Amino acid sequence: TQEVTFYEAVGGEETFRRLVHRFYEGVAADPLLRPLYPEEDLGPAEERLRLFLMQYWGGPRTYGERRGHPRLRMRHVPFRIGEAERDAWLGHMRDAIDELELPEPLETMLWDYLVMAANSLINAPG
Ligand code: HEM
Repeated sequence: TQEVTFYEAVGGEETFRRLVHRFYEGVAADPLLRPLYPEEDLGPAEERLRLFLMQYWGGPRTYGERRGHPRLRMRHVPFRIGEAERDAWLGHMRDAIDELELPEPLETMLWDYLVMAANSLINAPG
């Protein structure tokens, strides 16, 4: 049997590159989120998120080779993430997803996962 991964179904690396690049354009211009990112250059953060999402959806395991277990909750502890930060993060993802024009049910699968993951990373009230 041939199993097509979600990663392949949405168009592979190129699609994740477009998604995460567009997302970080939003972050770069966001006065709430931009100060959370410790590095002046958002390029390395963009690459980490892209490689993580590629791996999560069945693509190459490069993220794990470089970073080990994702431990996303632990890795976000240094950043104050309340509902406002979550909403801003998801807002840029929504814009980025809309530009991909993925067919259903792929678009909804991707969005629902990101909403769930973002909710799980809230670590501060308000
Ligand atoms: C890293 C913020 C949600 C995945 C980071 C960083 C910040 C941040 C400031 C550090 C940037 C870096 O140097 O890599 C936030 C905020 C969120 C959020 C405010 C709002 C809820 C998410 C979600 C995911 C995610 C939903 C996954 C679906 C990652 C990954 C890294 C990261 C993979 C890099 C981890 C590493 O290998 O060091 N995030 N994040 N984040 N975030 Fe988030």
